[in-house]
Amino acid sequence: MVPALELSHHRRITAVPLLHPYPTVTPAEARAQFPVFERTAYMNAGSVGPLSRRTFETMQAEEAAALTRGRGTASVWEKASATATAARERVAALIHVPADRVILTTSTTEGCNIVVTGLRLTPDDEVITTDAEHPGLLMPLLASGAHLRKSRVMERPASEALGAVLDEVTPRTKLVALSHVLWLNGHVLPLADIKRETGLPLLVDGAQSVGAIAVDASVADWYTVSGQKWLCGPETTGALYVGDDTTLRPQMQGSAASTFEQGPLRLAMTHLAPPMVAGMLAALEEVPEWGPSRAADMVAKCRAALLEAGVEVRTEPGQGTLVSFRTAGEPADAVKQAEAAGVVIRNLPDGWLRASVGWWNDETDIARLVASLQDGA
Ligand SMILES: Cc1ncc(COP(=O)(O)O)c(C=O)c1O
Repeated sequence: MVPALELSHHRRITAVPLLHPYPTVTPAEARAQFPVFERTAYMNAGSVGPLSRRTFETMQAEEAAALTRGRGTASVWEKASATATAARERVAALIHVPADRVILTTSTTEGCNIVVTGLRLTPDDEVITTDAEHPGLLMPLLASGAHLRKSRVMERPASEALGAVLDEVTPRTKLVALSHVLWLNGHVLPLADIKRETGLPLLVDGAQSVGAIAVDASVADWYTVSGQKWLCGPETTGALYVGDDTTLRPQMQGSAASTFEQGPLRLAMTHLAPPMVAGMLAALEEVPEWGPSRAADMVAKCRAALLEAGVEVRTEPGQGTLVSFRTAGEPADAVKQAEAAGVVIRNLPDGWLRASVGWWNDETDIARLVASLQDGA
């Protein structure tokens, strides 16, 4: 008998079939799941998504069960293991990759670190990234000691991103590591073209794409997922698609590595708290099939409304679900002004503002955003 506390929560269990991969709800019904919209035009999923009542209650129920039944109970571990498997399957289905190549992580940042450290890059290696990367990817790359070559995508139209990446390829390039959707302006990078044209190992930061736009992560070798942003899951949840695990030699290992000698699952570093994983699964179960198309529709409306109001917008049409713009005055003041008017946006380190437009937003949020900016002008 294995004592209950030593039961491996990473143990392989039978796959849970996805009988109902997507809920059938209308946009209004889906929006009503998020209490924040009762008062607030919440437009900051690019940082942290809105939390649904059901996701919140699922986490609370798990915490309550831990309190009364005991956290290390065999039945609790069993359930947590099944929940983690179901969450991996949901993520895999969403990004079109096999579930046995998806591991759970705490974040995109952790996923980037797993891959970058596992590649054991040296100062002789070159890595192509862009001049628009978030620290979640940039800091692991800097820490690797490899020579970084930054494709200059910020100064070019979105259609020239492929050329900007190809400009940096040399015989020493070991890795291309960049975001699918740029956090500064919402532009979408052409991953399939980049992979095809360079033929190089490709690590993709999916923090601003998964749950926002349609994603086929199989074009990349590694693709990260943030649970807390466009998937509306708890903070400190995420996932990593590991297309190629054979080239990774981890420099940090967790207990998963003692259970799995080979394959992607050995790379999982962190034991995620069961209430977090349960919350992540609950959030994944609420993702509607029409999410990306509705979000694209809303983001086009938001961009048009800002332009109509005379606001300077740097995001091109037909990109991701972030709209970057600026108004006269201090960006931090504009964010506070918007918050006072019940609108949540953020300012960016390069002095621009950013609205995140998800499938849960509607025309009233857009109207409130525009009005809050005009009030502040
Ligand atoms: C492009 C990008 N990458 C990474 C991150 C960090 O994500 P996480 O907190 O999941 O590591 C963010 C946002 O916080 C982001 O916008």
